[in-house]
Amino acid sequence: MAFLTIGLFLFAFAAVTKSKEQDNFYFDPAPMNTDVVEGEEVRLRCDVSNRKMISFYWTLNGRRLSNDSRRYQDDSDLRILRVDRDRDLGSYRCIATNVTTGISVTSTEAKLNMHLVFVCLTF
Ligand SMILES: *[C@@H]1O[C@H](CO)[C@@H](O)[C@H](O)[C@H]1NC(C)=O
Ligand SMILES: *[C@@H]1O[C@H](CO)[C@@H](O)[C@H](O)[C@H]1NC(C)=O
Repeated sequence: MAFLTIGLFLFAFAAVTKSKEQDNFYFDPAPMNTDVVEGEEVRLRCDVSNRKMISFYWTLNGRRLSNDSRRYQDDSDLRILRVDRDRDLGSYRCIATNVTTGISVTSTEAKLNMHLVFVCLTF
């Protein structure tokens, strides 16, 4: 009898876990603050725990980024080939959307900490 109860309990638990899995994804890795040298390349990483039906985009200061030859989304990451003080500073976020359900999750912000080239050359 005790066995049966435990069995039922485990079954119910598994069912709950399974139904929660339907739309349960989290950032892994989430974008992180990153040190960069002006003029050099940087990649902000972003991915989710489960990619099924997930599409990604990035924002800078709340504005959706479009791709250009210098700064573009590479798979789910954001790649900047020559970091520019005027165009690239600010708050980046990665947004992952389940295209089936429309449910989106937004990452915490990530910033670029920019260093001038001459600062690095002195070390
Ligand atoms: C997205 O939604 C579909 C439909 O509900 C589901 O099958 C899929 O597992 C979801 N993806 C994630 C990563 O949760
Ligand atoms: C930028 O390119 C990526 C990868 O090719 C694509 O997934 C994304 O939708 C594009 N973003 C825009 C705003 O066009």
